[in-house]
Amino acid sequence: MTPLFLTFEGPEGAGKSTQLRRLAARLEELGIAHTLTREPGGTPLGTRVREVLLDPALDIDALPEFLLYSASRAQLVREVLRPALSRGEVVLCDRYADSSLAYQGAGRGLDPTLLRLLTAEVTGGLTPNLTVLLDLDPVLGLSRAAERGQPDRLEQADLAFHGRVRRGFLDLAAGEPGRFLVLDATRDEAEVSAAIWAAVGERLATRTG
Ligand SMILES: Nc1ncnc2c1ncn2[C@@H]1O[C@H](COP(=O)(O)OP(=O)(O)O)[C@@H](O)[C@H]1O
Ligand SMILES: [Mg+2]
Repeated sequence: MTPLFLTFEGPEGAGKSTQLRRLAARLEELGIAHTLTREPGGTPLGTRVREVLLDPALDIDALPEFLLYSASRAQLVREVLRPALSRGEVVLCDRYADSSLAYQGAGRGLDPTLLRLLTAEVTGGLTPNLTVLLDLDPVLGLSRAAERGQPDRLEQADLAFHGRVRRGFLDLAAGEPGRFLVLDATRDEAEVSAAIWAAVGERLATRTG
């Protein structure tokens, strides 16, 4: 089958993990081969890097933060994403390179040209076929995320930062309207899921092999 690479992006608490679980369950029911993974993480190295990145006790500067995400991403591309896509699977990833452009670029202020250059090397140019951006006000997202328990290092950053991240995601989507599906994440979980399924179903229908 033609592989399909889908990524889910958006702020903390937008519903990425919730919607990915629903989508994966649907693919499972339909017997469609798929791999569900996440960033940072998804590999033994990525899991260790994730612990470092989310640790509220650590102070991590913007560039090393980007490089840590990139280390996890580079390993994920080689160990999980490329192999699954080579098998012709549908690959679902909870965050990917757009998150670095939004968080470390728009959020932390690192040069987007540099980030894009390094990311092209890190990913070997692997770009999603479809990116679902779950958009919502960071105040609401953070309050949803807070119900999960202790905030992680990124969730603790100030609201102005999260506002820039949101804007960054929306600018990325505006720049690549063919790749992005932007959804209002304040809508009911089932409604969001239906909108995602409409877009994914359309792409599944055109697969060959
Ligand atoms: N559409 C929705 N409306 C209201 N609450 C939601 C919705 N989608 C998810 N949630 C809740 O918000 C919280 C964060 O969802 P989650 O999927 O973990 O977000 P993310 O992975 O984007 O951080 C969870 O408690 C989840 O049940
Ligand atoms: Mg999540």
